[in-house]
Amino acid sequence: MPKIIAIGNMKGGVGKTTTAVHLAQQLGKKHKVLLLDADEELQCALSWREGDYAAWRFDALPYREATEKMTLNYDYLVIDTKGNEQGGDLVSLAQDSDLLVVPTKPDGLSATGLMKTLAPLVSDGIQNYRVLIVANMGGRGEELREALADQDVPVLNTVVRHSTAVGDAAERQRPLEAYTSHKYAKLVDADYAAVTREILSNVR
Ligand SMILES: Nc1ncnc2c1ncn2[C@@H]1O[C@H](COP(=O)(O)OP(=O)(O)O)[C@@H](O)[C@H]1O
Ligand SMILES: [Mg+2]
Repeated sequence: MPKIIAIGNMKGGVGKTTTAVHLAQQLGKKHKVLLLDADEELQCALSWREGDYAAWRFDALPYREATEKMTLNYDYLVIDTKGNEQGGDLVSLAQDSDLLVVPTKPDGLSATGLMKTLAPLVSDGIQNYRVLIVANMGGRGEELREALADQDVPVLNTVVRHSTAVGDAAERQRPLEAYTSHKYAKLVDADYAAVTREILSNVR
């Protein structure tokens, strides 16, 4: 049976899709990986993966099209979800997964969205989730990481740095690793390699 890693946050625009695509790409270096895009309306992860690039290392499908049988040959399923501020918490997503990764940016509004996202997980005693801070700039990410850790929120050590290379990569439908000429793209890609190692140590 594949291990399931879900990416979720009630808030949109917090780095879920970027994280799903790069986690899948990193895991794909050593494992068979299927990304399931559960953001029915936008399907941003799917369109990113549709880019013409020879070294994509994972398969991708709309979530609703995947049958259990289709997933059996994979080592990992990475599920990208949509932001859903209107309702629905992430408890069942966590319960159905080996690990729920909750990306957030270190700005005030995202941090507020994060607290609303985490509240039901905490009150239901869910433990298989980890917050991931992305788009770090000027020490704000480390600051938020420390604040969360002080409140006993499980947060990954790796903080993914901010770079405009992320938006460029999405627009060109290529992974960050395709930007060998772009110093910051390489660094963000290395951050995601570290994130992936940490995630693996949490799902084994
Ligand atoms: N590390 C990063 N540095 C800079 N911008 C980022 C970073 N991660 C994500 N972004 C940007 O933030 C926006 C939302 O990212 P996305 O992954 O689509 O989030 P979500 O899936 O949660 O809506 C996009 O414009 C994306 O380029
Ligand atoms: Mg998204």
